[in-house]
Amino acid sequence: MSVLMEVKNLKTYFNTEAGLVKAVDGVSYHINENETIGIVGESGCGKSVTQLSTIQLIATPPGRIVEGGVFFEGRDILKLEKNGQEMRSIRGGKISVIFQEPMTSLNPVMTIGRQLTEAIELHLKMTKEDAKKRAIELLDLVGIPSAKQRLSDFPHQFSGGMRQRVMIALGLSCNPRIIIADEPTTALDVTTQAQLLKLMQDVVREFKASLVIVTHNLGVVARYVERIYVMYAGRIIESGSCKDIFAHPRHPYTMGLLRAVPRLNEPKGKKLVPIVGLPPNLLNMPDTCAFLPRCPYAVEKCRQIPWPELRTLENGVHQTACHLDF
Ligand SMILES: Nc1ncnc2c1ncn2[C@@H]1O[C@H](COP(=O)(O)OP(=O)(O)OP(=O)(O)O)[C@@H](O)[C@H]1O
Ligand SMILES: [Mg+2]
Repeated sequence: MSVLMEVKNLKTYFNTEAGLVKAVDGVSYHINENETIGIVGESGCGKSVTQLSTIQLIATPPGRIVEGGVFFEGRDILKLEKNGQEMRSIRGGKISVIFQEPMTSLNPVMTIGRQLTEAIELHLKMTKEDAKKRAIELLDLVGIPSAKQRLSDFPHQFSGGMRQRVMIALGLSCNPRIIIADEPTTALDVTTQAQLLKLMQDVVREFKASLVIVTHNLGVVARYVERIYVMYAGRIIESGSCKDIFAHPRHPYTMGLLRAVPRLNEPKGKKLVPIVGLPPNLLNMPDTCAFLPRCPYAVEKCRQIPWPELRTLENGVHQTACHLDF
């Protein structure tokens, strides 16, 4: 398996009136070719900022990428001019992002057809006629009935689920190598959510692309991803294969996340246990493990040593940022 993109020691900070917010603080991960990975963690842990940083979509000010590299197609794309031609052709071209809220990403006063053909003409240098054909194919592919007729509709004429499908079509319109789906499904009901993830997985396979699913729900990614990265307070605190993480989580936070989501293979009626407490204030981070105040397993050592770095476990793949063994 070859690595398609590698993020190394990424740090993205925000200068706010209240102080410096270390939203992403030393994140490293990679995506292989033809692979689906999940980035999981509670609201505010830095999932979106990480993804936006990789394609230089962080507004400066208040944000700033202070350190790190994003290696894609043989070079560090963080070194490219933020709004230069090369970066723009990667962003929305080779790497496309499907955002959380379709109503804010789709243009309400432009037809679905125009939004699609515009993207296709721009990135694939197709003629108007070919772009229209491609737009219909893409809408078909994502399961929009009577695609040809619906090209002249506006976003508000589509249901929430349909708009998500249009967003996926738009995300695919430029034949990307990587699709980043940033919680594309939270506003939808569980059945639609499952259908859309399945759809995304299918189309990504057909396109031989890689998919990054960003979500706060570990249950959501379980069926779709090969590997998982768990984030907490701006860092990755556990990573491994989906199978290993579900079978034997090695960080108390991940254990907590697992107890908090319904699991398919467990008896009905099993109680879900939310993680007690709140994530730390990123303005005022302790030197010790950021999960310490919420950790049911914390021992004296945890109060004395700095936040442990990720360490690799015996199978050589699974990593945890906890010094305890579980
Ligand atoms: N423009 C900004 N200015 C200041 N702080 C910001 C800005 N954007 C993000 N942050 C902070 O960075 C941290 C990480 O935010 P991010 O959006 O990455 O969280 P997330 O994990 O995607 O959460 P969610 O699941 O709610 O989408 C948060 O504490 C947030 O307040
Ligand atoms: Mg987010």
